[in-house]
Amino acid sequence: MAIERTFSILKPDVTRRNLTGAVNALIEKAGLRIIAQKRVLITKGQAETFYAVHRERPFFGELVESMISGPVVVQVLEGEGAIQKYREVLGATDPSKADPGTIRKEFALSIGENSAHGSDAPETATIEIAQWFSGNELVG
Ligand code: RTP
Ligand code: MG
Repeated sequence: MAIERTFSILKPDVTRRNLTGAVNALIEKAGLRIIAQKRVLITKGQAETFYAVHRERPFFGELVESMISGPVVVQVLEGEGAIQKYREVLGATDPSKADPGTIRKEFALSIGENSAHGSDAPETATIEIAQWFSGNELVG
């Protein structure tokens, strides 16, 4: 399988509970390399753009408010089949349905505060990485 890059966000429930390192340990244990990382406060507009695909869903307002409720850590992860692999490391969107050992099973509080985001396809990974990092910030 080819070496890929995917985009990750450690959500405010992780930074609030001081779990950045614990989540990163699971990422690295899965063989994914964190080739870019920064802690930022995102604006409401940025959160709305990022999750625009969900704009019509009933949880959209709650999702945006949750993403701007504290710092997030944006990351680029690299590895073999990184996009699908990171989705597996994340576990199901609803933590009660996530497999043991996944980020969401171990750390998520609820479906709304589910600890981390991962790109769902090569196209979205490319777009999301470009939204948050310039080429010089990716150090593979
Ligand atoms: P993400 O985009 O954050 O990686 O999550 P995902 O692909 O697993 O799930 P997605 O369907 O894209 O949903 C995006 C985020 O919206 C919140 N959500 N809340 N209350 C609800 O029913 C509900 N459903 C989704 C979650 O925080 C989810 O990660
Ligand atoms: Mg998604």
